[in-house]
Amino acid sequence: MNEQTLVLIKPDGVKRNLIGDIIKRFEERGLKVSKLVMLTADEPTVREHYQLDNRDYLIHLGHVDITGWSEEKIEEKYQKSVKIVKDLQKFLLSGKIIKMILEGPGAVSLARKITGKTDPSLSPRGTIRGDFGEDSFDKANAEGRAVYNLVHASGTLEEADREIQLWFPTDSDI
Ligand code: TYD
Repeated sequence: MNEQTLVLIKPDGVKRNLIGDIIKRFEERGLKVSKLVMLTADEPTVREHYQLDNRDYLIHLGHVDITGWSEEKIEEKYQKSVKIVKDLQKFLLSGKIIKMILEGPGAVSLARKITGKTDPSLSPRGTIRGDFGEDSFDKANAEGRAVYNLVHASGTLEEADREIQLWFPTDSDI
């Protein structure tokens, strides 16, 4: 089924001149770029994208952690996720980004597959993060910042719908 998904090229991807390489990875797998804008993101949009007031989202983010999840640690992970989200918001506002809508059969899961794992150092060869990523959770945590992983791609169809509405509220911004 033809789907749409939201992909962002984060400030590290733009700064490292990887826009072309990244878009090529999506296009060569059959995804079509249907909308694309380069911009400096604004704070309200970024706060809506990475939601600090959404506890479920924050706890979900806490799952992505090499120490694993346990009931006892949930509060600790929640607090850790709050910091991650604040760092992420700062990172997304730190330079120019690309926002785009990609279209095609199974676009949401295909774009995630092409993007790779969250931690670039654990992301397989052949994925964007695996091939172009130079960062890791370890490095990012040691430096107290978000991990530089080049790309955001919506995780689910619902997330894609929400994020497309958020980043492309009207056709007038393109
Ligand atoms: P998540 O949605 O779990 O990953 P993905 O981008 O692969 O869907 O996390 C959102 C972003 O949070 C992720 O791209 C990078 C950042 N992040 C960190 O910077 N440090 C961390 O320890 C974690 C778990 C995430």
